[in-house]
Amino acid sequence: MKLTLKIWRQENAKAKGAMKTYPIDGIEGDMSFLEMLDVLNEELINKGEVPVEFDHDCREGICGSCSLQINGEPHGPDRLVTTCQLHMRKFNDGDTIVIEPFRATAFPVVTDLIVDRTAFDRIQHAGGYISVNTSGNTIDANSIPVNKHDADDSFNAATCIGCGACVAACKNASAMLFTSAKVSQYALLPQGQVEAVERVENMVRQMDLEGFGNCTNTGACEIECPKGISLENIARMNREYLSATSKG
Ligand code: SF4
Ligand code: FES
Repeated sequence: MKLTLKIWRQENAKAKGAMKTYPIDGIEGDMSFLEMLDVLNEELINKGEVPVEFDHDCREGICGSCSLQINGEPHGPDRLVTTCQLHMRKFNDGDTIVIEPFRATAFPVVTDLIVDRTAFDRIQHAGGYISVNTSGNTIDANSIPVNKHDADDSFNAATCIGCGACVAACKNASAMLFTSAKVSQYALLPQGQVEAVERVENMVRQMDLEGFGNCTNTGACEIECPKGISLENIARMNREYLSATSKG
């Protein structure tokens, strides 16, 4: 395939960025999107030009690092896949592909296609944990019965990889889907009840402090989420928050 890539180039956080056009040839349908960018970068390096910087780590849909806005969609046109799992067979010979970083005030651009998503880490630090006695008297987790439906919902919430596509997809740059997944995975389990009140209050407070927008129930986040995190988690977090704040 021959393609035309229009890529956001930005030297650093303070520099003014701009779209730059790169023609590319010899792209196979079974290459991943990131492998296609590797081909481009090899060409740029061979020509003595600065390669395009982008985030990646596992390249198998686990780590949440790869975060590209492709033709206006986070992780591109396929559903339930990350950018690293997106195959070039989803595009046609002669296509023009526009590649940008995730756009949100709370995700400032670091360079080219890399954004700073440490706001998510700070939300997680504010309450995304449980206290466990590790003194040698740890209770066997299997000794606490958990209803199967709750266990499944908790597991599904825990599959959030923190990629930020939900924020990039949202017209308000809301982080409600991410935060609600992190709240839900504990709210559904007995082990999560001890810190439940402080958890939801602190995580929502941190989310607001980071400058994410509010949720207006558009649902774009759920559609673009590579892990299929459900909007039901947002409803659960709202119930948890209402219950916590009315207690306190
Ligand atoms: S909720 Fe989905 S889109 Fe948002 S960070 Fe988690 S995995 Fe990514
Ligand atoms: S590189 Fe890890 S999810 Fe894409």
